[in-house]
Amino acid sequence: MDKNSLQNDVIDVCLRRGIVFPTAEIYNSYAGFYEYGPVGVKLRENLMVLWQQTFVNSEDNVHEISGSTIMPEAVFHASGHLDSFHDPLTQCDKCNSMYRIDHLIEELDLKNPDENLFNEQLKNNEIICPNCPGILSEARNFNMMFKTNVGPLEGNMGYLRPETAQNIFINFRRIAHSMRASLPFGVAQIGRAYRNEISPRNFLMRLREFEQLELEMFVDPDEINNHPNWVEVENIEINLLTRQNQSKNEKSIKITIKEAFDTKLIPNQYIGYYLALETMFMESIGISNDLFHFRELMENEVAHYSSANYDLEIVFPFGVFEVIGLAYRTDYDLKKHSEKSGAKLQINQPGKGNIIPHVIEPSAGLSRLIYAVMLSSYVYGELNSDRDWNWFNFTGAMAPWEAAVLPLMKKDGMSEGAKELYWQLKDYGLEVIYDESGKIGKRYARNDEIGVKYCITYDYDSLEKDLITIRDRDTMHQVQIKIDLLPDLIRQLILDIITWSDLENEFGRFK
Ligand code: GAP
Repeated sequence: MDKNSLQNDVIDVCLRRGIVFPTAEIYNSYAGFYEYGPVGVKLRENLMVLWQQTFVNSEDNVHEISGSTIMPEAVFHASGHLDSFHDPLTQCDKCNSMYRIDHLIEELDLKNPDENLFNEQLKNNEIICPNCPGILSEARNFNMMFKTNVGPLEGNMGYLRPETAQNIFINFRRIAHSMRASLPFGVAQIGRAYRNEISPRNFLMRLREFEQLELEMFVDPDEINNHPNWVEVENIEINLLTRQNQSKNEKSIKITIKEAFDTKLIPNQYIGYYLALETMFMESIGISNDLFHFRELMENEVAHYSSANYDLEIVFPFGVFEVIGLAYRTDYDLKKHSEKSGAKLQINQPGKGNIIPHVIEPSAGLSRLIYAVMLSSYVYGELNSDRDWNWFNFTGAMAPWEAAVLPLMKKDGMSEGAKELYWQLKDYGLEVIYDESGKIGKRYARNDEIGVKYCITYDYDSLEKDLITIRDRDTMHQVQIKIDLLPDLIRQLILDIITWSDLENEFGRFK
């Protein structure tokens, strides 16, 4: 397959079917801004719920907050973002195109580039713009934060947060006190972050406004190798791309969390625990372990606040993408904010007095995850087969709707009966959609295309014998059951309490 065709096909469905579209499209939008349409919002909600189930609700010591997206300059002065959150940039003297240095190196297809030599060449005006015959300028640092003036007076500077994490650090004292928290405890947040990326690219992968799902886990540094749930995760297998693998151009290794910890390939148990949780979370959204690896960032790649980073990267035919970061932020942020604000961001640890905890941070990007789920769930139909249309084989938990309710035809009371059933299923708490326009085959295709898991057809048997047909998206098989069994059976299917084969075994395949 052409390496771009999967991407193009998924983007095409996104635009046509109300999943994602560019912001202010009718006015020639800026690059790097996208909006979720009616179907995309469902995917977004499902993904957030699954993330909360894994990272927030599976523990009794994780609290969630929702913070402001604009904060005073002082916050980012203390956090180091004003000084360090930048990318090197070069600009063409003719067409004014701007390039991020690492993207340019990629674009020029320079194998094993020596960045120092490259910068020297830029300085000596030796590199030509890929867009025109212009000369590219010497590299300069470009800070990626969006700046804004707060209130009517000039000079009151605020910044749009480049990560959600900072609200958690600056509110540490209030959260700890209000929740009577003791170490270890976590604070999670789902919210918008903003980065003025030099070259947004790859659809939802590099945006200027995006959502993060972050957890800051506060730990006593003396207890960092004593995770209370260690035994539950230590045998989980992961694909790990170590620094050594990378410097030798080797592939990732398959290793258990315990082995990685025992051989010091990961710095502590908390990092190991969250590598395991990330693996479980990926499975819950439908991305299996063999599609991704954890890459330990090389020393020169680690962010200014971090002492170790493990990026969850997905390998697609057209490239490798980081979708979740995992950082060991140590006491960097609480210490910096304590120093700059004068507030004591500490917590009492029995027998030790007040200490500044260390932080482990799993940080996911919603749009990258949604794009990854779509890319890995996209299935091609075959011409001249029973199914010549393409569809998403989303898991039940990710599907935008669990079922579509379809009257076979819009006559003889079938619409009315199907509508009544639709409302009953909604009242029962199922996520269903009603669809009555067009031929039934077209409606199956339309619902498959956006990944709706089941189609429920209300027909003459429904009117006359209280029977209803359920069609499974992936096999296209059908069963016919009594209507009053429907809500509970759909619920059991979605929660994986029963499988589609169980249903076929019990009720027989309906032809
Ligand atoms: N608080 C840590 C932090 O922000 P990061 O690795 O810079 O770490 C975390 O970002 C996640 O946010 C990434 O793994 C990615 O999924 C997402 N992300 C970062 N920059 C992004 C961008 N420009 N567009 C879309 N998602 C982005």
